[in-house]
Amino acid sequence: MKIWILILALIFWIIIFSGKEIFESIGLDEISYDPTGRLKVFVYELPSKYNEEFIQRDPRCLTSKFAVEIHVHRFLLTSPVRTLNPEEADWFFTPVYTTSTLNDKALPLLFESPRILRSAIKLISSKWPYWNRTEGADHFFVFPHDFGACFNHMEEQAIKRGIPPLLQRATLVQIFGEKNHVCFKDGSIVIPAYVPPQNLQSHLIPPRTRRSIFVHFSGTIYWEGGFYSRGIRASISEKFKNNSLFHISDQHSTTFYEEMQRATFCLCPRGWSPWSSRLIEQVAFGCIPVVIADGIVLPFDDEVPWEEISVSVAEEDALKLEAILTSVPVDEIRRKQRSLADPSIGRAVLYPEPSEPGDAFHHILNRLARKLPHDKSIFLRPGEKILNWTAAGPVEDLEPLDIDD
Ligand SMILES: *[C@@H]1O[C@H](CO)[C@@H](O)[C@H](O)[C@H]1NC(C)=O
Ligand SMILES: *[C@@H]1O[C@H](CO)[C@@H](O)[C@H](O)[C@H]1NC(C)=O
Ligand SMILES: *[C@@H]1O[C@H](CO)[C@@H](O)[C@H](O)[C@H]1NC(C)=O
Repeated sequence: MKIWILILALIFWIIIFSGKEIFESIGLDEISYDPTGRLKVFVYELPSKYNEEFIQRDPRCLTSKFAVEIHVHRFLLTSPVRTLNPEEADWFFTPVYTTSTLNDKALPLLFESPRILRSAIKLISSKWPYWNRTEGADHFFVFPHDFGACFNHMEEQAIKRGIPPLLQRATLVQIFGEKNHVCFKDGSIVIPAYVPPQNLQSHLIPPRTRRSIFVHFSGTIYWEGGFYSRGIRASISEKFKNNSLFHISDQHSTTFYEEMQRATFCLCPRGWSPWSSRLIEQVAFGCIPVVIADGIVLPFDDEVPWEEISVSVAEEDALKLEAILTSVPVDEIRRKQRSLADPSIGRAVLYPEPSEPGDAFHHILNRLARKLPHDKSIFLRPGEKILNWTAAGPVEDLEPLDIDD
């Protein structure tokens, strides 16, 4: 009898102890389940002028921070969730590259993006029956630009333009995320910007190098007048550039990846838009991100415990950074650094080639899977139309493109 009590006690102890382990680990293993078998994606085959030709014209688009549209497409082509039979698909993906025409500074030129998009939707809706069946409600698109599908890097212009009406029912996968913003549609999936994993790998310094820089920032500070970054980067730089706790530079020097690995806090203030690819670099290099972008929706915010690994500072408090950061207790700094070092965190924000379980590709699929099953009401009755093909948006968006047949 006693031995049974002992065994029971032992079992309880194991359960409680392992339960505690689970609660203490902030890893994403519990959530980053394998999406295979939970969804099927049909990838439309489009003429290369909608995708591949952009890469041939300018291979820089493969490694820019906007390259997600290309890499998600490539990933899906070889992913086990891909189905060649559209009749059994849960989701439809249209591989149209709207952000891969770059200027001499490797920034996207977007003049034609809405028309390329419109042209692609016109093509899939005439060639296949699936778009019209739901008018896009089971279709997803990747729009990696500053303000997503608003296709402008200036906020005012982006808001004026809005999301193209043809995307009213589709799911948007984008880097831009901000609460209550015209360019952020309900149900959108916020994903990390693209940072080539090999670039990070090639700049690693010896582990456990002392973090001798307290606060680090390197990047554009001024751009066509003070309203870039709502003036935040400029005022931070002006206030703290002589402060020995701060290492601020407007040069994207070749050593800034090394510097991030030697820094405790790394600033991540808004630029034109709230997001920045430096957030990904900071996470990868274990430098605690200090996010200064009001209302930002961070990538995979259900899965990545951003509060545990970063610090969030209101834009209006940017000039109080020194007081805010020097008052973070050392224990908390250590805790955040330990959490950042959890490999599942770094994996979730990167797009490695080949893909691996728990990476950003898998989190996108998990997000899509969690939206299933689709509500039956998304399927329109025969002849029913909701979208207005000639509605709103700038008129020039409606002009046909020379790539239209
Ligand atoms: C889908 O609807 C559009 C516009 O109403 C129409 O032009 C097109 O032919 C339809 N597609 C198919 C495959 O029937
Ligand atoms: C920073 O140092 C420079 C040169 O030493 C000086 O001219 C400038 O006024 C200082 N700025 C601030 C904000 O203290
Ligand atoms: C579509 O939108 C245009 C522009 O707003 C409007 O003139 C037209 O009447 C609308 N068509 C339908 C069928 O609602």
